[in-house]
Amino acid sequence: MDMKICILPGDGIGPEIIAQAEKVLKKISEKFSHNIDIEHGLIGGVAIDKTSVPLPDETIEKCKASDAVLLGAVGGPKWDNVSHEIRPEKGLLKIRKELGLFANIRPAKVFGPLKEASCLKQEIVDRGIDLVVIRELTGGIYFGEPRGIEEKQGEKLAYNTMVYTEKEIRRIAKVAFDIARVRNKKICSVDKANVLEVSRFWREVIEDEAKNYPDCELTHMYVDNAAMQLVLNPSQFDVIVTSNLFGDILSDEAAVITGSIGMLPSASLGEKNPGLFEPIHGSAPDIAGKDKANPLATILSVAMMFRYTFSLEKEADAIENAVNLVLEQGYRTGDIFTSGCTLVSCSEMGDLVCSNI
Ligand code: IPM
Ligand code: MG
Repeated sequence: MDMKICILPGDGIGPEIIAQAEKVLKKISEKFSHNIDIEHGLIGGVAIDKTSVPLPDETIEKCKASDAVLLGAVGGPKWDNVSHEIRPEKGLLKIRKELGLFANIRPAKVFGPLKEASCLKQEIVDRGIDLVVIRELTGGIYFGEPRGIEEKQGEKLAYNTMVYTEKEIRRIAKVAFDIARVRNKKICSVDKANVLEVSRFWREVIEDEAKNYPDCELTHMYVDNAAMQLVLNPSQFDVIVTSNLFGDILSDEAAVITGSIGMLPSASLGEKNPGLFEPIHGSAPDIAGKDKANPLATILSVAMMFRYTFSLEKEADAIENAVNLVLEQGYRTGDIFTSGCTLVSCSEMGDLVCSNI
C-alpha cells in the first residue's frame, strides 16, 4: 500500500521518541512491503523559534495532504513566557481544530509484564485494567466563546465557556458506541450533570443516541466519582465517553494506573481528514536530549495508525506483539524500571522493538 505520513516531532523528548517510531515504520514497510512516504513539519516551540507561530500554515497544508499525522510532543519551559496566543500548546489545539479531529481515543490497558509498575494495589490491578477513554476534542471549554481576561469596574476577572451543541455530542457518542460494540458493549458517560447545564444536555443527547445501540449498556457517572472509581475499581470500565476537559484529566489518570504514562498511545480522528496519532504524555523537558525517554507510547501510536487509518490489522498486531515481547524479555526504560529488569535507553528500546517485529 502507498501511504503518506506527515511527522511532527515537536519539542522536548518529541524528536527522540519520534526517531524510534520512524525506525518502526521503516521496519514495517520492509516486512509488509508498503511504500511509506514521510514528510516532516514544524509544530510547538520549535515552530515558534523558526517561524514565530506554533503552527505555521505550511504544516497545516502538509498534514492535510497526508493520510495520517504522527506527532511527538509540544511545549517546554523555554516558551513559558511567550504570549498566551502563541504558546506551543496552541499549535496542538489548532491542528486538532484544523483537521476536525473531534474524537480522541485513549486506550489504557495493563501490559502483563508491567503489572508491578502500577501504583495501585496488586489486588486491584489483578482484576484487570482494559478501558478506553473517548474524549471529545474540538469543543467544550477548550474552545468555547466568550473567553478572556479583562477588567470590569476596576476589578480583574477571567472567564471561559463550556458549550456543546447537540451535533457535537451526538457525533462523539456515535464514535463511543461504535467502539463499545466491538469491545464489551459497556459505556459510561462522564459528566457533572448535578451542577452544569451543559452536562445535563450532554446526558440527554447521549441517552437519546443510546436508543440506536440497544445492545450496549449505558451508565452515567459524575466526573468526581469517576476520578475516584478509576483508582478504586478500574476493572468496572470498558468505554468511557466524556467532554474535552474531563477527558483530558481522566485520561492522564487512566494512563498512570496502568504503570506509566510513557506507555499510552492515542488516536485523534475526524470525519474525513487524516487522523493524528500521538503519545498521551507531554514533552518531558527534564529528560529531553538524554536518550532516556520511553518511546513505547509513540510506537504504539504507530500501531493505532495502521489499525485506524489504514485498516492494516496485521501490521498493528506486529507492533503491539513486539512491544509485549520486549517487555517480557525484561527490557525497561527508566519510567517503568523495576529491579531485576534491564535498563535501556530510548534508542535501544526502539531497536529492540524493531528486532522483535
Ligand atoms: C493532552 C494535552 C493537551 C490537552 C495540552 C498539551 C494542550 O494535555 O493532549 O492531553 O490539554 O489536550
Ligand atoms: Mg492532557
